[in-house]
Amino acid sequence: MIRAMNDGRFRTPSPEIRRTSTVLFDSVAQLRATLRGWRSGDRRYSSYATHGTPTTAALERLLLAGEGGAGVELSSSGLAAITVAMLAVLRSGDHLLVTDSAYGPARDLCTGLLRRLGVDVEFYDPLVGAAIAALIRPTTSLIWMESPGTHTFEVQDVPAIVAAARTADHKVVTAIDNTWGSPGVFRPFDHGVDISVVALTKYWGGHADLVMGATFATADLIAAVRETVLLTGACAASEDAFLVIRGARTVDLRIREAGERALVIAERLAGHPRVARVLHPALPADPGHALWQRDFHGSSGLFSFELRRADGSPADQADADADALTDRLIARGRFGLGYSWGGFESLVMPARWSGLNRDVRPWTGGALLRLSIGLEPLEGLWSDLEAALAEG
Ligand SMILES: Cc1ncc(COP(=O)(O)O)c(C=O)c1O
Repeated sequence: MIRAMNDGRFRTPSPEIRRTSTVLFDSVAQLRATLRGWRSGDRRYSSYATHGTPTTAALERLLLAGEGGAGVELSSSGLAAITVAMLAVLRSGDHLLVTDSAYGPARDLCTGLLRRLGVDVEFYDPLVGAAIAALIRPTTSLIWMESPGTHTFEVQDVPAIVAAARTADHKVVTAIDNTWGSPGVFRPFDHGVDISVVALTKYWGGHADLVMGATFATADLIAAVRETVLLTGACAASEDAFLVIRGARTVDLRIREAGERALVIAERLAGHPRVARVLHPALPADPGHALWQRDFHGSSGLFSFELRRADGSPADQADADADALTDRLIARGRFGLGYSWGGFESLVMPARWSGLNRDVRPWTGGALLRLSIGLEPLEGLWSDLEAALAEG
């Protein structure tokens, strides 16, 4: 359904792009009323572009409808949204539990900036489940999840982790990077998670033409999230917000379509002699399949597979095989070689060029290639993959 967001007689399906730094006031009385309204958390009031514009506010309404939560704050990138979520909760001396399977730059944020600020960072096994209770200390203030995990696609037992956090003697906030599952594939707030972070750069934007992030939170945490965005100035721009609004019109269709195509390709790869293993939780053989079936409403278009050499032996991480396969695949024209994902275009990335850093659960398997399946005709994508695998 198209809902008009503008006032006045010329009503359009999409909001205007309100490009500005400054908000002009007709009087000091109006300035005062604006500041009062804004301080009360009413998003119709803004006194400066970093506090939001009508365009970013329109996007926030669409995002909340798709992801849930009591409120959302936009940031300039997915990584900025992760930073905002963490800084909103953590104080010097706090203990932070981070899944070992977290997105690489989020790990770097923890080991770099947060440690420097006095946060005690500990990585935990993504498959820990209810046993995370034993890792919670009196100083633990935040448990960071990402499910499925970056590159290795471990599914976390989110309800068990949330339950452990809730039974702790003090408040332990749970947060998840839900970029793989947003919107609709995984609904963190239905499982009691306090904060969800989504890189809008991926499915919500969907067209590989912007970076933006969103931090969603429950009612008791959204004020701290908002304060952190304001303190850091990590805001998003109207022009990009307009593009995400455009992406939001089709995001449900695109994520479902990419997910269905990816699953067909994952199933075919699983039966291919050059493939040792496919890491995709919707496949019945995947170790995370039971949790995925219980908690997810589908899957998106991103998964990995582990390569076998032509003689059938496992290709190791540093093997040139994965690089050579990647070059053959992109030469056929339908896949691009690039870091992002979740867009209309299919992409491949050998995991070793993206960093497979792990502290607790090192990857001991062979060379991993990550595929982001886009919206190109399925048989064309498969024929490029099949040909690239056959040529090696
Ligand atoms: C799981 C995940 N979270 C967050 C991000 C960060 O998003 P951005 O590129 O907008 O900073 C990425 C980017 O690849 C990602 O894969």
